[in-house]
Parts: sequence; structure tokens; C-alpha cells
Amino acid sequence: MSLSSNINIFKSIVRNIDTSGYSFVFIFHLSENNHPYLKYWLQHVDNLGVVSIPYSELPNVRFSIEKTTKVYTPALNEIPNCIFQICQDNSDKKIVLVEIGGYSAQVAHLLDNVVLAVEDTNQGHWNFENNTDKLTFPVVSMAQAHLKKLEDHLIGDSIVYSTQMLLRKYFKQDYVLGKRVLVLSYGGIGSSVCKSLKALKADVSVYDIDPLKQAQAYFEGFRIVKKIDALSTANIIIGCSGKQSIKFNELRFINNGALLVSGSSKQVEFPYDKIKEHIVRNQGVELDEVKVAGKNFFIAYKGQPINFLHDSALGDIFEIQMSLLCSCIEYGLKSKLKPGIYNIPIEYQRAIAKQYVERKISRI
Ligand SMILES: NC(=O)c1ccc[n+]([C@@H]2O[C@H](COP(=O)([O-])OP(=O)(O)OC[C@H]3O[C@@H](n4cnc5c(N)ncnc54)[C@H](O)[C@@H]3O)[C@@H](O)[C@H]2O)c1
Repeated sequence: MSLSSNINIFKSIVRNIDTSGYSFVFIFHLSENNHPYLKYWLQHVDNLGVVSIPYSELPNVRFSIEKTTKVYTPALNEIPNCIFQICQDNSDKKIVLVEIGGYSAQVAHLLDNVVLAVEDTNQGHWNFENNTDKLTFPVVSMAQAHLKKLEDHLIGDSIVYSTQMLLRKYFKQDYVLGKRVLVLSYGGIGSSVCKSLKALKADVSVYDIDPLKQAQAYFEGFRIVKKIDALSTANIIIGCSGKQSIKFNELRFINNGALLVSGSSKQVEFPYDKIKEHIVRNQGVELDEVKVAGKNFFIAYKGQPINFLHDSALGDIFEIQMSLLCSCIEYGLKSKLKPGIYNIPIEYQRAIAKQYVERKISRI
């Protein structure tokens, strides 16, 4: 154990990429875990600034990054336009976008001077896929990489940890043990949340729109259910689908007093725009109590991914993920790719894993 983290794998990858002639724009979480990586990166590349993703921003991290570069702080739905403006204002530059969320996808056809984007998350990967016809530049994605999957169970633990923290703080020091928890999705994040909850002796049910995932959940020991039936009995509902897993007209089926939690991205999981018109009481940003169609229930962190309330800290795996994002740049810049979406090749993943394993391997 050490009080400061060793991020040497990441640093060596940053130093070895030839980025001359390119200007970088980061659309990033200004969170504690990202902080050392972003800071190092900004010192080593020509950059036009950082667009902060609002739900993960920590004031001390923003303060620190602002000493190095310009920080843009648009509202979530203004981020695409903010990226467009930065590109317009720097029309003589060849721009590389470093993305967590695919925010540039919907304005991609307007970004003439972007030469490459790299993407960290599934949500971003899907955003680019849904806008492939607009792409005028290649996107190298790590979202579906083998190495990226290694973080899923840690994210699952972080989501459950933050849920427990809210139960303690607002629900008479309660915990998940014995609670009926409905998890919406059995994908990478959803299945990890299920396993983490089970270890804490929660009573877990699963709904996924994909029958293959429902079958997998069943054979991995979980109760599979119909969504509407389970909504009416669950004490806690955790959406991890990356899509809207509960429609507004389904809220009337929710169990009175239930807690709704998102473990996915942005505000996609629940129709928060409409839910917020029904708030009866709120506890700062962490918890809203709402009344919809005669049902009283709670929604955590304005429908945003709950683990960002506690910085979603993930230890060493974070270095692997940041190193992989950096390798996406290396691959993208040297491969002369046409506009389209490309997965980071396995050899880049293996090279990072090799360095990490060498650091960790036990010497007997
Ligand atoms: N909170 C975090 O820190 C964090 C970290 C990584 C990824 N994410 C986000 O979590 C989301 C899920 O990512 P993933 O890697 O698990 O994706 P995934 O593709 O592995 O899983 C998604 C699952 O959701 C299911 N699904 C889709 N629509 C559904 C619906 N309406 N109801 C129920 N199930 C539905 C799919 O069938 C699939 O099994 C993405 O938005 C991703 O970006 C969040």
C-alpha cells in the first residue's frame, strides 16, 4: 500500500506518442481519480482546454486544472455545442478529442478540423455508432476492449457502495441486506452490481430486455422477473442499461417508498426531466423525494450515476484504463484511419497488461 499512486505505465505511454502538430481537447471527468492522469497529459500535449462533465466535477480538481489550462463548464446538454465552438475558434488547428461519453457525436458533421476522437465508455461508443453517418473523422474506442471489462466488477462495487452510503445517511442508517433490489440490465455493469449485492445478502431480481442475458442471469443464480411485476415490490431499483430502462408511464407501478438509482451514464436511465416536475422534497443533489401518479418514491443524485457521488474510486485499474485511452491515440494517429469506429486492437491491450503484470507478479 502507498499513499501516492504509481502511474508509470501511463506516463511512459504518454511520453512515447508523437503528438506534434496536433491540439487536444479533453471532455473529461474532473474527479479525484482522473486528476493525476489529466494533469500529466495536459503538461505533455498541446491542448485547447478541458470540457468538464458536470456530474463528476470536484471543485478542488477544477481549481487545480484551471491553473494549467482553460476549463469549460457547460451544462450536460450544452457539451456538444461547446465542443463545436472550441473547434470553430481554432479552425487552423488539427484537433484530437479525448472523450468520455461521445458528446461530439451529434455535432460530428460540423467538426471539419477534428482528425481523431478516442472514446472510453460504452455510452460514448453507442453515441458514435448512432451517428456514423455524421462522422468526418475516425473514432478509436476502448469501450468494448477486453481490458476495459476488467473494471466492471469494481464499478459494480462502487455503485453498491454509494447506494449503501445513501441508505445510511437518509434512510435511518439502513443497508442493502434483506432489501428487495431490482437490477435493470445484466450487461457488464448490471451483472457486476448483482454479484456485489448478492455478496451483501440483498434479495436480488434481474430484468434485461435481451433473453440471452436473462438466461445468463438465471444460470448465474439470480431470480429473473418481468419488469412491471418487480417494480411494484422492489425496495431499491438500480438501472444499469445505458438506455432509458423505466419509461415515465411505468412509474405508476413503482413500490411506494422505493429508491431509484442509476449506475449508468449522464441522465439516460430514468426520465428525470419529467420526474423533476414532481419533486415534493429534496436533500441537496443527493436525493429527491417525488410523487408521481399517486406513488411516493425517491431518486438518487438526480438520476445521474450514483458512484460519482463518491468519486467512483477504482485504484490501480484506473491506470490501466487511462493507459488504454492513451494507446487509442497512439493507434489512431499512426494508422491513417478513414472516418468510422475502430476498436483498439488486442496487441495494445496486451502490451499494457504485460507491463502491469510485471509490476504485480509475486517474487517468491
Ligand atoms: N457508472 C459508471 O461509472 C459506469 C462505468 C462504465 C460504464 N458505464 C455505463 O453503464 C452503461 C451500461 O454499460 P455496460 O458496459 O454494462 O453495457 P452492456 O452492453 O454490457 O450492457 C447493457 C445491457 O443493458 C440491456 N438493456 C438495454 N436496454 C435495456 C432496457 N430498456 N431494460 C433493461 N435492460 C436493457 C442490454 O440488453 C445489455 O444486456 C453504459 O451507459 C456505460 O457507459 C457506467
